[in-house]
Amino acid sequence: NKGAYPYYMLKEIDEQAVVARNIAAHYFDEDGNLQGIGCAITDRMQEADRLYIVAAGTSYHAGLVGKRYFEQWAKIPTEVHIASEFAYDQPMLSEKPFFIFLSQSGETADSREVLDNVKKQGYPALTLANVMNSTLTREADFALPVLAGPEIAVASTKAYTAQVLVQAILASALGNPGFDLKAELAKVAVEISAITDEKESFKQIAETALKGQKSAFYIGRGLDAAVALEAALKLKEISYVQTEGFAAGELKHGTISLIEDGTPVFALLTQEKTAGLLRGEVAQVAARGANTIILASESLAKEGDAFVLPEVNELLMPILAVIPAQLIAYYATLDRGLDVDRPRNLAKSVTVQ
Ligand code: F6R
Repeated sequence: NKGAYPYYMLKEIDEQAVVARNIAAHYFDEDGNLQGIGCAITDRMQEADRLYIVAAGTSYHAGLVGKRYFEQWAKIPTEVHIASEFAYDQPMLSEKPFFIFLSQSGETADSREVLDNVKKQGYPALTLANVMNSTLTREADFALPVLAGPEIAVASTKAYTAQVLVQAILASALGNPGFDLKAELAKVAVEISAITDEKESFKQIAETALKGQKSAFYIGRGLDAAVALEAALKLKEISYVQTEGFAAGELKHGTISLIEDGTPVFALLTQEKTAGLLRGEVAQVAARGANTIILASESLAKEGDAFVLPEVNELLMPILAVIPAQLIAYYATLDRGLDVDRPRNLAKSVTVQ
């Protein structure tokens, strides 16, 4: 039920603050201790010499963020793979691999194919899914809920943020993040609402920057490059504006030739280490005529930036940085008079290979 919302997508974007709170309430007890992740899971993961995250689409993008948590906190090397590729061209594996399947629906055929393959090879697998009791949760050795609640809009929003959150919590069960994750997640939930309260800003950005445009870019570095891929997918899949998500440093190696007068280039700027370089790349595309729209976290923001993101721990910024992109995609699509919830040619759950 959409209630007062015109589209499920907007309702699901707004639900992200509650989802963050529900996830924290499920995985932390009152004293801040982790719960709900059995040691059968953590023991098996600790034994592994490498994690392989396998997923498709938006869930793959969530995996690209999760990799950082497993490597930085749990200190386990982690690879992220597109399921449809891994299924038929399995890369060389480490000696003791552990597989993590990320899926909203739990039914994605490409991911199921990989799970079948790795089970035949005798490797342990954990599924993180939004729909529990789905094929991927039933057939893996272990399963943990993503707890986003039913997601109806074809474009995935809250399942992405929920997958990122649950990966952060799982990684914190394996190694110390070095800060109070539970407290920081409470802050994340508050700041998600602060961003979703700014709908009018994103509506304006969408209607001015994307009006009549056939193509657009999202750029970033580090975790922002991972978010740029998801931001671009959101925009292109529902508005049909051809959008590339790009690691900003790669632009100069070819793609910058596509920049024309007025081409919208959205820059996600939340990572301190590379903020200066990214500013340089924004200047380079602006010098070639691009309409640059900078979304920067508070401590990195400068005058003239289009939107200032509230700040949480830098590694958790993907959860906040994706929300403007979801809202920009929503309003750009609305502005074009298209059906936000049901883009052409797409199904919510892709059960064919
Ligand atoms: C995009 C989208 C898809 C799915 C992909 C995987 O908004 O929803 O890219 O993320 O089809 O689906 P799940 O997560 O159900 O395995």
